[in-house]
Amino acid sequence: MKIALGSDHAGLPLKKEIIDHLHDIEAEFEDFGTFTSESCDYPDFALKVAEEVSKKNFEFGILVCGTGIGISIAANKVPGIRAALCSDTFSAHACREHNDANILALGQRVIGPGLALDIVDIFLNTKFQGGRHERRIGKITDIEDKYFK
Ligand code: RB5
Repeated sequence: MKIALGSDHAGLPLKKEIIDHLHDIEAEFEDFGTFTSESCDYPDFALKVAEEVSKKNFEFGILVCGTGIGISIAANKVPGIRAALCSDTFSAHACREHNDANILALGQRVIGPGLALDIVDIFLNTKFQGGRHERRIGKITDIEDKYFK
């Protein structure tokens, strides 16, 4: 499993914790920035990670900004991306089982690192259930096809 990582300056400290964790569990990943605490714009990093996941160069993405909101909104503009902002473990399960989310978004200013790493583990280890959820994902793709020309 290959994971693409990205954050803005506000999400950088949590992204560093996630990187340490991914090293510990020997997960394969690449960090697409930002790499410094200098103020930057979250859509730039959402786009990089979302494009890598959309092209299937990476199975999953993890994005972090201050709230997780801006970076998830931006990532969801890329066709094929289903970015889920999670601040609890139930949502981390559900976004994989029901929504086949391919990007996890987290808010550095919202949750602590302990909870964030639990959410990361659940997200990476939970399988999409398919079945009736497949049809609903198909309808999301239909919306993309209607508007993303
Ligand atoms: C940066 O200050 C902040 O606006 C950004 O990280 C994010 O929270 C936006 O949604």
